[in-house]
Amino acid sequence: MTSLVVVSNRLPALGGSRPQAGGLAVALLGALNEHTALWFGWNGRISKETITQARMHSSQGVELASIPLTREDFNEYYLGYANEVLWPVFHFSLGAMDYRRSFAEAYYRVNRLFADALRPLLSGDELIWVHDYHLIPLGRELRDRGIQQRLGFFLHTPFPSYGLVRAVPDHRRLLNDLCAYDLIGFQTTIDMRAFTESVTEAIDVRRVADGQLRFGDHLLRTGVYPVGIDVEANVATADHALEVPRVKHLIEGLGRRNLIIGVDRLDYSKGLPQRFRAYQALLADYPHRHGQTVFMQIASPSRTSIPEYDELRRNLEEMAGHINGEHGDIDWVPIHYMNRTFDRAAVAGLYRTARVGLVTPLRDGMNLVAKEFVAAQDPHDPGVLVLSELAGAARELDDALQVAPYDVDAIAAGIDQALAMPLAERQRRHARMMDIMRHNDLHAWRRRFLNDLAALEVG
Ligand code: G6P
Repeated sequence: MTSLVVVSNRLPALGGSRPQAGGLAVALLGALNEHTALWFGWNGRISKETITQARMHSSQGVELASIPLTREDFNEYYLGYANEVLWPVFHFSLGAMDYRRSFAEAYYRVNRLFADALRPLLSGDELIWVHDYHLIPLGRELRDRGIQQRLGFFLHTPFPSYGLVRAVPDHRRLLNDLCAYDLIGFQTTIDMRAFTESVTEAIDVRRVADGQLRFGDHLLRTGVYPVGIDVEANVATADHALEVPRVKHLIEGLGRRNLIIGVDRLDYSKGLPQRFRAYQALLADYPHRHGQTVFMQIASPSRTSIPEYDELRRNLEEMAGHINGEHGDIDWVPIHYMNRTFDRAAVAGLYRTARVGLVTPLRDGMNLVAKEFVAAQDPHDPGVLVLSELAGAARELDDALQVAPYDVDAIAAGIDQALAMPLAERQRRHARMMDIMRHNDLHAWRRRFLNDLAALEVG
């Protein structure tokens, strides 16, 4: 089988039980076992000087090649351009964008550094699969270094509409760079269409057929590849998760109360303030739910030195305190808010115990928590997923209770409906979602993308 080179900003935290906040690294781990593969990325460390020679290491049969970043590159490329320019725009949050020219320079500088460090590791016949918004220019940089191999790019986030893309001062250059790839994968058709509109409007690209764009001599293919999870691995973890001591303890403490669970990175795209307000509305407007539920929100710290993230953390702490102060009782704490990361087994146990999974992002490429929650349920007595219609997962999971994430009252009504749902309906909805998720699981996702990439003519 052709060898594969995966490139992403962040390398996976290898070792099944270690805490994992990000969806991408988890999603890709399985991709490497079927190929002779190498995974290249940032090792998560800061160095005093720029290092262009990758360090090779292998872990659990996976070959990793990594480089550190200097403090300046970390601040300006990762925090700055990737997460204060592209992330907010790609999540339709223009107000959170903080654009600086030095960020753009660092973004291109680090993409050149990645290309320089990766170039000597390539032999000439591998498939190269680049992931996510941190590395848009990498394909062009590799081409400039004489790389002829097929180059694929997958965007895990949404792709914003052209009206928003235009707000990024370097948007023409970015769109131009994206066109250096041979195949670009998106999570949904909405994202793919937005990309097609952006390139045909902003630069000299012509749509020649469905999923085919011409840019000079180059034929670029685009496709929709909704990322899945390893369903069976998630089921297996959840089947044993009620034995995790922390989970056992929780179940004892809950008594007859129903658990509502939310698990997210602490990020403004996740709609957490709206979710907290929805729970408050549930307690205020549905008196029969008072004292009957516990809402547990786990928010793993993320990108903590960006002001928006810090502000969100303080805001949520205040809101949780306020809700507990207003509605709590001597023997009942309505909301448990935890600003930390838990291991996967404990999280699976929380999903399994919960009656309701709340996944209400304001915008999300896919949202794997939604899928993991469903996979963790007991098929005989499953909990109900309340899902934002603006998450990519909503395109596949028709049987979730879908809500508009900005509509706090609609989320509250969704929770109430989920809590009241009869067993037969819960089983039916769960079974249908499991079928869809099994059909398009993580392995099917990566095979589809890589088969399509491998089938392309080179050049
Ligand atoms: C999202 C992005 C990933 C990223 C993850 C965690 O899922 O699509 O590319 O790795 O968030 O964010 P972080 O900034 O910690 O890598």
